[in-house]
Amino acid sequence: MKDQIMEVKTDPITEANGKLSSEHFQHKQPRLGKRSHELQNFGGVMKRLRIGLSDNVRSQSVLELNRILADSMMLRDLYKKHHWQVSGITFYELHLLFDKHYEEQVGLVDALAERIQILGGVSVAVPQDVAEMTRILRPPKGREAVPVQLSRLLEAHETILIQSRAAAARAVERGDDGANDSSIRSKEVKK
Ligand SMILES: [Fe+2]
Repeated sequence: MKDQIMEVKTDPITEANGKLSSEHFQHKQPRLGKRSHELQNFGGVMKRLRIGLSDNVRSQSVLELNRILADSMMLRDLYKKHHWQVSGITFYELHLLFDKHYEEQVGLVDALAERIQILGGVSVAVPQDVAEMTRILRPPKGREAVPVQLSRLLEAHETILIQSRAAAARAVERGDDGANDSSIRSKEVKK
C-alpha cells in the first residue's frame, strides 16, 4: 500500500509536443492545445493530511470507495439507459421510476466521490475508467425486455450492497468511521 502514497506535484504545463514549457499554470485563462502533468496520480493519496487518519488508512479507504463509486456510476447509467429504452404497457410508470432512481444515484455518486477527495484521494470519473473498474456486468448496447432491465438493476443494487457492507465494516476496523457513512446508507434504505 505504501507505494500508492505520494506527494502532490506542482509541475509546469507541457506544450502540445510534449516538451516542458517555462510557463507555469495560470488559473485565469484557458491554455488551448496544452496539457498539464497530473498533479496527483490516481490510486495515490496526499501525504500527511491533517484529518486524524494515517496515510495507509486513507489509502485503503480510497481504494475501496473508488470501487463502490465505479459500481454506483454504472448503476446510475443503467437507470438512464433503461429510462430511455423501456417499452411496453408499463412504459410510463417505469420511465418515470427509472429517472427517479437515476437522480438518487446521482446524489450517492457525488457523496462517494467527494468523500474520496476529502480522504486525499482521486475519484474515478470518466466512463472508460468506470468500465475498467466496475464489478457490474456490462449490458448490451441494444434494448432489452422489461424483466431483464429490472433484473439487471436489482443485481447491480445487490452487488453494491454486499460490497458496501463489507467495505464499511473494514473502514470501521481501520478507524475510518466517516467512510461508514450512515447518511449515505439511509438514502439507500429510503428508496
Ligand atoms: Fe428523460
